[in-house]
Amino acid sequence: MRERLEQLKHEALEELKSVLDAKRLDELRVKYQGKKGKLTEILRGMGGLSAEERPVIGQLANEVRDAIDAAVTTHAERFEREETERRLASETIDVTLPGRKLPRGAVHPLMQVIQEIEEIFIGMGYQIAEGPEVETDYHNFEALNLPKDHPARDMQDSFYITEELLLRTHTSPVQVRTMQRMDGEVPIKVICPGKVYRRDDDDATHSFQFHQIEGLVIGKNIRMSDLKGTLLTFIQKLFGEDAQIRMRPSFFPFTEPSAEVDVMYKKKGATEPSWLEILGCGMVHPRVLEMSGYDPEQYSGFAFGMGAERIAMLKYGIDDIRHFYNNDERFLKQFARQ
Ligand code: PHE
Repeated sequence: MRERLEQLKHEALEELKSVLDAKRLDELRVKYQGKKGKLTEILRGMGGLSAEERPVIGQLANEVRDAIDAAVTTHAERFEREETERRLASETIDVTLPGRKLPRGAVHPLMQVIQEIEEIFIGMGYQIAEGPEVETDYHNFEALNLPKDHPARDMQDSFYITEELLLRTHTSPVQVRTMQRMDGEVPIKVICPGKVYRRDDDDATHSFQFHQIEGLVIGKNIRMSDLKGTLLTFIQKLFGEDAQIRMRPSFFPFTEPSAEVDVMYKKKGATEPSWLEILGCGMVHPRVLEMSGYDPEQYSGFAFGMGAERIAMLKYGIDDIRHFYNNDERFLKQFARQ
């Protein structure tokens, strides 16, 4: 048996020496090492050996197997290396070929306007605050001095989810949330961008969902003149140095006094500039301060709110609010900043 093993080893290694390709190598591997291979065949005869012989022959058989394994592996590695070299030599890459152009996305025009407004206010020391779109009746109305039976609630037709929950109709509830979070601390200087919802029939100037940007400043001795100065600075940064504003008396339950602000602006395509309404604002109502934990004897503040779509429409001369939501590439591409 020893001899047969030695013989097998010799034969296998000789045969492997002359192997030329991977296919033949595999055949030889099966021939010697496979289930029906020669080595297996010899090992099957081990049952007939004496107890002394068995470990000796067993060890030899292992050596033979390892030797054949090693030879097979060496050859396999060589074939693989050769194959790689062949491929490297035959396949060349022209690194000077121009690449395939991937279409580049762009920031949505509405988001560009919101970002621009955010940056202007950040430059004036404001922070950005956010709040939920599904809002409580308390934050959306009650804490803004709009009790349940208040007629001004009709100004904003709402989507109610339950008696106490609704889709926020404006970003003003973020004023309330900010005051609650600041817990009596001053100063507060935030702007709050976000989506709002109203039960409107969609047309060129109305959408059931749109975006607002709210502003809130609370501190000591904050006056109406601070509000006017802030808004003028903001409008001139957004619409250009010679933009003019005017304030008209108005009404909001959560500000007193309240005003609407117009900007003198030549719309794209118009021949003459005209006054265009752009936002609502006012001094935070004492009741509103009080309900959120600020003593109106000590603190005062101003707030403002504007529609982002409306501003974008004025700035870019867009005539239909629905353009923002239809995702027509011909529209969107005009605003791609590359
Ligand atoms: N929330 C008001 C609206 O949606 C706008 C506003 C905000 C007015 C803050 C005054 C102060 O109409």
